[in-house]
Amino acid sequence: MALINENYLKLHGSYLFAEIAKRVAKFKGENPDANVIRLGIGDVTRPLPDAIIQAMHKAVDEMADEKTFRGYGPEQGYDFLIEKIIKNDYAARGIHLGMDEVFVSDGAKSDCGNIQEIFGIDNIVAVTDPVYPVYVDSNAMAGRAGEIGADGKWSRIAYMPCTSENNFIPQLPQTRPDLIYLCFPNNPTGMTLSKDDLKKWVDYARANKSIILFDSAYEAYIQEKDVPHSIYEIEGAREVAIEFRSFSKTAGFTGTRCAYTIVPKEVEAYTEKGEAIPLNKLWNRRQTTKFNGVPYIIQRGAEAVYTEEGQKQIKELVQYYMSNAKIIKEGLESVGLKVFGGVNAPYIWLKTPNDMDSWDFFDKLLNEANIVGTPGSGFGPSGKGYFRLTAFGNRESTEEAVERFRKKLKL
Ligand code: MLT
Repeated sequence: MALINENYLKLHGSYLFAEIAKRVAKFKGENPDANVIRLGIGDVTRPLPDAIIQAMHKAVDEMADEKTFRGYGPEQGYDFLIEKIIKNDYAARGIHLGMDEVFVSDGAKSDCGNIQEIFGIDNIVAVTDPVYPVYVDSNAMAGRAGEIGADGKWSRIAYMPCTSENNFIPQLPQTRPDLIYLCFPNNPTGMTLSKDDLKKWVDYARANKSIILFDSAYEAYIQEKDVPHSIYEIEGAREVAIEFRSFSKTAGFTGTRCAYTIVPKEVEAYTEKGEAIPLNKLWNRRQTTKFNGVPYIIQRGAEAVYTEEGQKQIKELVQYYMSNAKIIKEGLESVGLKVFGGVNAPYIWLKTPNDMDSWDFFDKLLNEANIVGTPGSGFGPSGKGYFRLTAFGNRESTEEAVERFRKKLKL
């Protein structure tokens, strides 16, 4: 008799965005003529920039010729892409990385979900609350989260509330965590950490031999000068931090899939006997066993992000979405809503009117204005009474959504 991993039974019935898709499909079924505007899942809508498309076309042609055809590539990614990542995303900011510290992958979601595999099951995990659900669910699947309580909190996860009361800045938890997930610019709140705030975490991790799992998928959206783009801008972070980056939101790769993870040689965790083991070695072992690399065509596309044309085009892309963010932020403020984020991130985090339950607001917005957003409580207990909209729609539907907030929503 085959036994299942019973940890899966402890999870919510479906992943947050799958649940939303289900509800929207039901609404569409009942209201086939409704023109639904989707500002729920953070999925991009602009086509891939031309420089990327050209590079991919060229790579497709190479695959058609025996002389230039490629089969399995290196599991860690092709050198041509890793070199560009190191030079443009890190060396340009004074951060020096070795070629074997970069692991190209098919997504920050997969890497953030898979990374917990290389850690012991007894580690205490700390997450900001609200949180990107992947961090919590992947640890719950592994059996590291304990039991889920009526308040929606897992018994073995340390939650660090981020609400308007603390300006969305996580405070060190009471329980000493071993693994600390930080995502900045933050999904879902759209807020950032200053260098000083981030330094506190790096110092804490160094003092306590904890590891920081730093998700910086939205760094390309940072507009303000002093906001850190990488955790390695902080002294000592190479000893304690793994960083996740993605081409999804930076260059429109949500459907094409390409990302990368940095595991510096110095980051170590321990055996039960106290022997220090480099995580780079473990992650490499994991990736070479379970992953066969990102397709050549896709990596050539990602490489084109770093050409002069590519850089110009992706900057335009980011500005397009950030103008949407401004439209939503200002539009919602003009109808009296309390709004956060949207300045260094493509997410707008709003307080629901009259402290309405997040899912009730989801239904109200869908029914009255035919707009889909994401209920804050879906991101964790401290997201209760909040709601997320994304700036990833097209301009027309973003403007139309704001208009509907003004005219259709009964606030
Ligand atoms: C989101 O809506 O939070 C994003 O789509 C998350 C992701 O990139 O998986």
